[in-house]
Amino acid sequence: MESIKNMLGKHTLVINKWTLLSIFLIMGTVKAYSQTTPQLGKDSIKEVVGAMTLQEKVQLVVGMGWNPPKVPGAAGQTHAIPRLGIPSMVLSDGPAGVRIKPIRDNDSSKTYYATAFPVARLLASSWDTSLVRSVGNAYGEEAHEYGVDIALAPALNIHRNPLGGRNFEYYSEDPLIAGDMAAAMVNGVESNGVGTSIKHFVANNQESNRMGVNTIVSERALREIYLRGFEIAVKKAQPWTVMSSYNKVNGTYTAQRHDLLTTVLRDEWGFKGFVMTDWTGGDDPVAQMKAGNDLIEPGNEKQIKKITDAVKSGDLDETVLDQNAGRILQIVLKSPAFKKYNYSNNPDLKAHAKVSRTAATDGMILLRNEQQALPLPSGDKIAAFGNASYDIIIGGTGSGEVNEAYKVQLDEGLADAGFGMDQGLQKTYKRYIKTEKAKRPEPKNFFDHPEPISEMNIDAAMAQKKASENNAAVITIGRNAGEGADREVSDFYLNDNEKALVKTVSEAFHSQNKKVVVVLNVDGIVDVASWQDQVDAILLAWQPGQEAGHAIADLLDGSINPSGKLATTIPIKYTDVPSSKNFPGTPEKKPEEVTYKEGIYNGYRYYDTFDVKPAYEFGYGLSYTTFSIDNTNLSSSNFDGQLSVTTEVTNSGDVAGKEVVQLYLSAPSNGLDKPAQELKGFAKTKRLQPGESQTVTFELTPKDLASFNPETVSWEAAAGTYTVRIGVSSRDIRQTKTFKLDSNLTVEKVHDVLRPEHSIDELKPEIK
Ligand code: BGC
Repeated sequence: MESIKNMLGKHTLVINKWTLLSIFLIMGTVKAYSQTTPQLGKDSIKEVVGAMTLQEKVQLVVGMGWNPPKVPGAAGQTHAIPRLGIPSMVLSDGPAGVRIKPIRDNDSSKTYYATAFPVARLLASSWDTSLVRSVGNAYGEEAHEYGVDIALAPALNIHRNPLGGRNFEYYSEDPLIAGDMAAAMVNGVESNGVGTSIKHFVANNQESNRMGVNTIVSERALREIYLRGFEIAVKKAQPWTVMSSYNKVNGTYTAQRHDLLTTVLRDEWGFKGFVMTDWTGGDDPVAQMKAGNDLIEPGNEKQIKKITDAVKSGDLDETVLDQNAGRILQIVLKSPAFKKYNYSNNPDLKAHAKVSRTAATDGMILLRNEQQALPLPSGDKIAAFGNASYDIIIGGTGSGEVNEAYKVQLDEGLADAGFGMDQGLQKTYKRYIKTEKAKRPEPKNFFDHPEPISEMNIDAAMAQKKASENNAAVITIGRNAGEGADREVSDFYLNDNEKALVKTVSEAFHSQNKKVVVVLNVDGIVDVASWQDQVDAILLAWQPGQEAGHAIADLLDGSINPSGKLATTIPIKYTDVPSSKNFPGTPEKKPEEVTYKEGIYNGYRYYDTFDVKPAYEFGYGLSYTTFSIDNTNLSSSNFDGQLSVTTEVTNSGDVAGKEVVQLYLSAPSNGLDKPAQELKGFAKTKRLQPGESQTVTFELTPKDLASFNPETVSWEAAAGTYTVRIGVSSRDIRQTKTFKLDSNLTVEKVHDVLRPEHSIDELKPEIK
């Protein structure tokens, strides 16, 4: 015992001596190390950047390239610099859910499917920012649990033309809706501690030659329409990042425009995050650094070399690079990667599927419902026609496509809702689709998409037989599009097979006094005017995400009352669209230039000002109930810096439902042409029971009254009388009130930037 004590004592003594010595040494080393090597999070960003070598700085501003290793299927990754405590961040698409590889090589034990939420244009049709926020919340949770640091979403370019290939990813023709929806999405996603990248900044409104086209657009149209949604999103939600677009604006790539990325985005709007390029966007990495495009994605060696050489030759001041790197580091500091978040790879897909279904039901639009054809009585026997009834399109193609675990077909959704499905038709369609799909060649690349399968010929005898065996017909018309190509004009119209299908089925079912419902399962607007009279009801279901079949059934059987409204006008014919003469630009095959000759008169701003009747107007959507609007009041009859508008919505019908109250403003011109009216506020009510009312309040700010005057380079509100128009669509205005602005008001003076190289012969109404 004694000897053990002695031994221990001796040993302890020895340890003490050496331990003390080691502690001193380590402390000295740590001190020396921390003096020379600052660490992100412990030392200031300035110190960390100051400690970076030129090579490290350049690595930080240029991404790791294609196929980033950390999360398979993610779009990009930033470089780590372990020496300085800087981790790598994972960037992944967007915007309808997390886009990653669902099956991983050498890993058969687990799958990595993501929830396919409804596409953005459906979400916008809900006109419900809290709903969009809840989708963002689920999306962000999923991104977080799959190891993603920044979601490449939301996308908020304006619907300029119905043929835009990526319109499904975008929200609206109106910048207030686009901006508010994007802000809600950003806030939802970022509430999980992951970032977003609002894209594509700016005026990326077409896919035709998207990487080279020069968008020629006036400062006024930019400020009021194309920039405005981004301005709202930045000011309301301060996203972690912004993605510059592929196209040029007025002669220069957006990623290389200092006036856009620094003067407007940062100096005027107060953006605090960093800007990244779209993937391989632009052509001059040095100009990108100078412009304030801080990160180049996905990044390659050539770009690294060019930036390094530019610093060495003095063409690029290293302090510019310091600023770019510093901005990236500020975001790295907030990232899950920096916080060493131990992601589970196990998000709550079940809970998110529910969110996806609810969102889908709230953004579908009932366009037509003659003699209350809908809802269909539960238990009805349904004959489902159209390929998309059995091969539903849940989202668009390209980087916006999500790898979901399953999708609910419409026939399955209807069956789950208790409808009796015509099994003969089911079998015939499924066989036909399988055979036709097998004939198609494998896609050659990411942008190659097989031609849609043409509709089967249903002859009159067959249609009569199905009419006699069923209570109603549901015809689903499908359309898809995506990155890399715009739609053709022919895609806007139903083709001959589709027209024949609608006609034959409608004639047969109507001859037996049975209803015909058309479901539009589409990425973009299609013609309805030429065929709608043949059918009883039309549900515009958009691309509803993975719960598609269930969500559509929820509306068709009336378990949910439709409350979606158009966030983009449906014109009577394609040539009515104000941009139709200037889309996608010239030369047509590969447009070098596109001029936005319609100026600010996009969407309803055009149809209302120039008196062009649409098939269905902006803001339109039916319900299974009716609503009345009463008691609209203004806080004052004179505008003095601010004004509140209150109005009361009452469910005047028999079933519970939600309504979207819309506030349009008609402003006096005072020398500057003005749209007949502009949306300045919207609110979705809660689910109102029959007889129940809700008071809705809107706040009008000076900017709501103002237009951008390119002569004075300011937002100006003209003195005179303003009319507040409260409605349930842009053409169903229920109450109006007026107020006065006593004298002209300069609301905001901005920088004289972004002017087109030559003046544009813009469309203008006569000033009244
Ligand atoms: C798209 C972006 C996307 C990026 C990364 C680009 O082709 O335009 O929207 O985020 O790829 O996948």
